[in-house]
Amino acid sequence: MTLLSAEDIVSGYGKVEILHEVSVYVDEEEMVSIIGPNGSGKSTLMKTIFGMVDVWEGRVDFQAESIVDIPPHKIVRKGLCYVPQEKNIFPSLTVEENLDMGAFIRKDDYSEELERVYGIFPALLEKQKQVVGNLSGGQQQMVAMGAALTLDPKILLLDEPTAGLAPNLAKMILDKIKEVNETGVAILIVEQNAREALKLSNRGYVLAMGENRFTGNSRDLLKNEEVGKLYLGG
Ligand SMILES: Nc1ncnc2c1ncn2[C@@H]1O[C@H](COP(=O)(O)OP(=O)(O)OP(=O)(O)O)[C@@H](O)[C@H]1O
Ligand SMILES: [Mg+2]
Repeated sequence: MTLLSAEDIVSGYGKVEILHEVSVYVDEEEMVSIIGPNGSGKSTLMKTIFGMVDVWEGRVDFQAESIVDIPPHKIVRKGLCYVPQEKNIFPSLTVEENLDMGAFIRKDDYSEELERVYGIFPALLEKQKQVVGNLSGGQQQMVAMGAALTLDPKILLLDEPTAGLAPNLAKMILDKIKEVNETGVAILIVEQNAREALKLSNRGYVLAMGENRFTGNSRDLLKNEEVGKLYLGG
């Protein structure tokens, strides 16, 4: 079943069109990667899906319902959470407080979700009372994802969760993301570590200059010579 689909999306900033009829979809419980060069529109696509950038043309459907014109704070309540590329934590608050902020729209008990977050990211349990600004880059990414997970989302949109991390740490974070996926949360992830992300994903999209360049299941994309040469560093 299709969980999220963005079809023929045209959007941009001011009068400048950045996305030229881009389409992506994510099935329930799927993990899907978006890769592509800097400036190709990956973050813009995430922001457009999440309602932070206006859709000029095309449709965005979540659970078979249009979410175009629904503001981000309402999209979140439907089970679609977005972890942006930057400024995705409250650095002066503790781990615990950051997770509480993630869950702030919930009026009910979310101890089960907290348990899941600490189960997947045990490092955070040890650092519950520590200020997040003092944690490592990898741990800060865990906090950002953990905060989103307190809302028990159906899908997480992750924009470069391994940015700035050393390769071994990046791999560890990607494995954690796969673990989250295996608990039934669909993942749409933008990644610079394209090869690693594709290996863990069911399918992938290559965006270039605001257009769909390649689409397919990860195995085929990893085998594709042109994709390898141009977008996976040979
Ligand atoms: N707020 C903005 N206002 C105007 N132009 C923007 C804005 N944000 C991004 N752009 C432009 O839109 C284009 C696509 O940017 P976007 O951030 O979506 O690319 P990206 O694929 O995420 O790149 P990166 O890999 O560097 O994160 C770029 O030309 C960028 O300069
Ligand atoms: Mg980006």
